[in-house]
Amino acid sequence: MAKKQLNTSVIFFIGALGGLLFGFDTGIISGASPLIETNFQLNVEQTAFITSSVLIGSSVGALSIGPLSDKFGRKKLLIVASILFLIGSTMSMLAVGFVSMIVARIILGLAVGSASALTPAYLAELADAPHRGSLGTMFQLMLTFGILMAYVSNLGFLHHNLLGMRDWRWMLGSALIPALILFFGSIVLPESPRYLVEKGNIDEARSVLNNLRKNNPDEDPEKELKEIQLVANQPHGGIKELFTIARPAVIVAVGLMFLQQLVGINSVIYFLPQVFIKAFSFPEGDAIWISVFIGVVNFLCTVVAYKIMDKFDRKKILLFGSIVMALAIGILSVLNFTMNVKQVAVPTIILIAFYILGFAVSWGPIAWLMIGEIFPLNVRGIGASIGSAANWIGNFIVSQFFLVLLDAFHNNIGGPFGVFTFFAILSIFFVIYVVPETRGKTLEDIELEMRKKQGEKIK
Ligand code: BGC
Repeated sequence: MAKKQLNTSVIFFIGALGGLLFGFDTGIISGASPLIETNFQLNVEQTAFITSSVLIGSSVGALSIGPLSDKFGRKKLLIVASILFLIGSTMSMLAVGFVSMIVARIILGLAVGSASALTPAYLAELADAPHRGSLGTMFQLMLTFGILMAYVSNLGFLHHNLLGMRDWRWMLGSALIPALILFFGSIVLPESPRYLVEKGNIDEARSVLNNLRKNNPDEDPEKELKEIQLVANQPHGGIKELFTIARPAVIVAVGLMFLQQLVGINSVIYFLPQVFIKAFSFPEGDAIWISVFIGVVNFLCTVVAYKIMDKFDRKKILLFGSIVMALAIGILSVLNFTMNVKQVAVPTIILIAFYILGFAVSWGPIAWLMIGEIFPLNVRGIGASIGSAANWIGNFIVSQFFLVLLDAFHNNIGGPFGVFTFFAILSIFFVIYVVPETRGKTLEDIELEMRKKQGEKIK
C-alpha cells in the first residue's frame, strides 16, 4: 500500500520539478550577477541584460512549446525541456564572457518557459478533480522551494571558490542536480491520459488512469475515461477555437497572468536586497538575510496554500490574497511617503512579509493552476502557453521598470509600491467579474460548461 502511494506521489513530484528549476534559475541570478559583473568586468547594462535575457528566452519558450505539446504529447516535451535545462545550466556554469553567458541564459530561459507552460497542464491532466487544487499547487510549491534554494546557495557559495572554481560558477552549476533528476524522471513519467485519449490511444489512457487512481477506491477510472472521450469527441476547430469557444479562457488566463506580475511580486523576489541597500542604506550582508527570510515566508505560505487549495473556492482565496496584498503595500506606500525613512525600515519588512503571504496563498499558485484547468482539451497546450507567455512578458515589464521607477521616486519604495497597489485593487474586480470557479469540477465539466455557455450543442 505504502509503495503504491509512493508511486503516485513520485509521479507528481517529478512532474512538478520544472517548478523547482524555474524558481532556482530565476532566483539564483540575484546573488550571482554582482560576482559575474566584477569577474567579467561588465557595465551595469550588461549585468541587467544577464538577468533579463532569461525572461526573453522564457517568453519564447512558453509560446512555442504549447502547440508542440498538443501535437507530440506532454511527456516528450518535458524531456526536451529537461535537456534544455541541462545544456543551459552547464553553459552558464562554464561561460567565459558576456556573450556566452547571454546565450546560456537564453537557453535556460527557453527551458524555464517551456516547463512553466507544460507543467500546469500536465499536472491538471493527471490529477483527479477532488485533489487537483493541491496537486497543481505542487508546481508553485516547488517553485518557491527553488527560489529559497537559490537564496541559500547564494549565501552558501559566496566567496567559496571550491576546487579552484569561482563561487558564482558553483551557484549556477548547482541547478544541474534538479535538472538531472527531471531528465531521468521525465523518461519514466506516464503520458497524460487526456492527451492519450485525444490521440485515440484509449487502452494506454485506461492503463495510466487505472494506475493513477489505484489507491483511491472512491474513484472510477472507467467513468473518467468515458467523460474524457465525450470531450475529445466534440467538434474541433483547432487553434481557431482560441478565438471562439475558448475565448473566455484566453481572457481569464492572460488577465490572471498579467495581474499576477503587475502586483509587483518580483520587485521583492528579484530585487529585495537592492531595495534595502538603496532605500534604507542596509549593509549587503543584512540585505541578503532579509531575502532569505522572505524566501522562507514565501515557501511556508505556499505549504499552507497546498493544504487549503481544495477546501476553499479558488475565487475566495484569490479575493483574500488581493485584499491582503492591496492593504499591505498600500499601507507600506503611505508610510514610506509620510514618515522618516529610518523609522520605516522595520515596518516595511513586516508589511512585505504580509504582502508575500497574500500572494503565496493565492495568486502565486492559483494563476498557474488555472491555466492548466480552464482550456478545452484540444487547445489546452497552446492555451497554457499563451497564459504562461503573458506571465513572462508581465515579469519582463516589471523587472525592467522597477529600478527605473524606484529611481524616479528618488529611492522611495512608496512610489513603485503605490503603482502595484493600484493593480492589486484592480485584481479584486477581475476576480469578482471575470474569473470562473473551477474547484471540485472535472476538467471535462469545466470544458462542457464553457461550450454550453458559448451556445454549442454537446454531442
Ligand atoms: C510567479 C513568479 C514569482 C514566484 C514567487 C510565481 O507564481 O510566476 O514570477 O517569482 O511566484 O514565488
